[in-house]
Amino acid sequence: MTEKRTSIHGQWTSRTVFILAATGSAVGLGNIWKFPYITGENGGGTFVLVYLLCIALIGVPIMMAEIMLGRRGKQSPINTMLALAKDEHRNPGWVWLGWMGVAAGFLILSYYSVIAGWAMSYVFRTGGGMFLGITADGANSIFAALVGDPERLLAWHTIFMLITMMVVARGVKNGLEKAVTLLMPLLFALLIVIVIYAMTTGYFMEGVRFLFTPGTIDGKGILTAMGHAFFTLSLGMGAIMVYGSYLSEEYSIVQASILIALADTVVALLAGLAIFPIVFANGLEPGAGPGLIFQTLPIAFGHMQGGTLVGVVFFTLLMFAAWTSAISLIEPAVAYLVENKGVNRIYASVWIGGLTWFVGLGTVFSFNIWKDKTLSIPYLFENKTFFDTLDYLTANIMLPLGGLFIALFAAWVMREQSTKDEMKTYPFIYKTWRFLVRFITPVAVIIVFLKAVDAI
Ligand code: TRP
Repeated sequence: MTEKRTSIHGQWTSRTVFILAATGSAVGLGNIWKFPYITGENGGGTFVLVYLLCIALIGVPIMMAEIMLGRRGKQSPINTMLALAKDEHRNPGWVWLGWMGVAAGFLILSYYSVIAGWAMSYVFRTGGGMFLGITADGANSIFAALVGDPERLLAWHTIFMLITMMVVARGVKNGLEKAVTLLMPLLFALLIVIVIYAMTTGYFMEGVRFLFTPGTIDGKGILTAMGHAFFTLSLGMGAIMVYGSYLSEEYSIVQASILIALADTVVALLAGLAIFPIVFANGLEPGAGPGLIFQTLPIAFGHMQGGTLVGVVFFTLLMFAAWTSAISLIEPAVAYLVENKGVNRIYASVWIGGLTWFVGLGTVFSFNIWKDKTLSIPYLFENKTFFDTLDYLTANIMLPLGGLFIALFAAWVMREQSTKDEMKTYPFIYKTWRFLVRFITPVAVIIVFLKAVDAI
């Protein structure tokens, strides 16, 4: 009976389109903004190694599970979980997993949009020639002036939310396909241009060493690395699940997942290779925090040939990359409202987008008027601002927890035959996948959780 389900929201027109859309979701601020700064904060090499291991052993198998669940359920994550639990004659309570995903996506988007706003404002700062010949100090003060100004952040956050709502209202498939086909390869090319600039700084090998020479890491760093593996691949909250629900039956889930994860990882590593040489060449702090790329890349654009143009195009593409990710963060919630409340996409997008915008105000203020309002939770974290708290709760807790339960559902709750039918792959690959999601993935997530609270 599951074979007859179809999605009321339509289908991707081809496998390539699905891969592009999912890659568009995966590649975003996580790769270019977040990966470098958390790598810097966590000391480099070992962090990168743990992150890569998490991508391979946890991320890729869970991505396959998520696409598989989505394609079988063909609805928003909430209704998909409900339908699949019923198909398997299991407890419909699994629906909460869908709800948690919707909540996580909503919370992530609320701050994601603010950071995307920074990228947009940098298009104009670069274009106006503000960075020509700039020093590290100059770049720092330009960044500090931006985030210190709540009104400016609010304006950009509002613009970004509006353009996200516009696309989601029209339906994910219209327009997105073309944007991704053209812009992603361009972003990739520009990253290479910046890496080439980084090679001219004389500090390239320092950057490489920082990224790839193992050092030390603590339990919290390991949790951050694992959380980031989920974040960067858009896993654990149903974004990839909902994209999977628009995928038609005949395509290979395994191949798609590997391609998406590979593309995503290459972009992140390139961003690291672009940024750290600039950090060391200018005596900057690798652990400078969320402003890292905004304090380093302007130096590159201010000194390379044609840097103004390269910079304008780069920040524009970064905004597009954030946009294609943001869309996938609210699609599960919008799809749910359309399915269950009988409203149209426009109405659903406006409501959810509006609420997200409102929660985003907390992040806007985290960098200025609420800078000193911090929260500590025993065993988990100390002195985090609103933004840091949201980031921690979503990326380090909700996504891995969501992923853990997705793995448990796919591997222990669903019948083996159901997953085998849906995966449609070679027996050897299927067995490897099943072994990973049954044992390795859940155990790894649990160990990392325990390590983070110093329980082991
Ligand atoms: N993966 C995106 C990035 O790296 C962010 C993102 C989009 C995301 N959809 C998601 C993160 C779903 C977690 C869950 O920028």
